[in-house]
Amino acid sequence: MFESFENEIKNAKKIVFVTGAGISQESGIPTFRGKDGHWRKHDPMKLATIDAFYNNPKLVWEWYEERRKNMLVAKPNLGHKAIVELENHTNVVVLTQNIDGLHQKAGSTNVLELHGSMIRMKCTACDFHGEITSDFEKLPPLCKCGKILRPDVVWFGEPLPQDVWHDSIFHASSCDVMIIAGTSLVVSPANTLPIYAKQNNALLIEINPESTIMSFDMDLSLQTTSANALPHLISIFKK
Ligand code: APR
Repeated sequence: MFESFENEIKNAKKIVFVTGAGISQESGIPTFRGKDGHWRKHDPMKLATIDAFYNNPKLVWEWYEERRKNMLVAKPNLGHKAIVELENHTNVVVLTQNIDGLHQKAGSTNVLELHGSMIRMKCTACDFHGEITSDFEKLPPLCKCGKILRPDVVWFGEPLPQDVWHDSIFHASSCDVMIIAGTSLVVSPANTLPIYAKQNNALLIEINPESTIMSFDMDLSLQTTSANALPHLISIFKK
């Protein structure tokens, strides 16, 4: 699968992964825009914007709570696990758009969550931030200050956490190989990360059963699933 770039991969001092919902699809978590994707069933403007939240916070919380419970029982797949094993061979950083925590659950030690996390919440008024450790008795949940709590995720039209974005640009701009797995690359600014890597002459590899808007810009585009392709990466280092 990766034969044509074995040396570049084997000699890479830093490999950066940019991942999206597709890498968790084989763990039973739906994507957004694929078949049965969330945005095929729901209007994102009714569930994933700050206006939608203030318009109906209970509806938005119900949807995130349903997803949180699914994500909590989901298990990392061979794709997540291969990325962990790669840490034994080189410096690995994961820049993920996923809020499911499966990279961390698999054991990845260097994960930047570009779009937040489903296990975190924050207050809409005070600077309270916290972890969701149990189900809520009542939705929407209230902060100690009396105001509504919201999921600590990035909604459409909202900026990414600046420290996370700043560090992501640093890693994208200083990697030797970037592997883009399971993302349609339609959402910005995450979809600019391959451009930073390209500017650093990094090798760009895409893993996706479908072609994306950047497939032609890739050095290698593997039209298969991440759980199928990523374990083959490890075999390169074992030769
Ligand atoms: N392995 C690899 N790729 C897969 C797999 C798989 N098993 N299954 C599906 N894919 C691919 C699909 O072909 C699609 O291109 O994963 C991609 C998923 O794309 P999206 O559903 O658009 O998800 P993502 O790119 O993560 O969305 C970005 O959009 O809705 C917002 O905030 C949300 O983080 C999300 C962002």
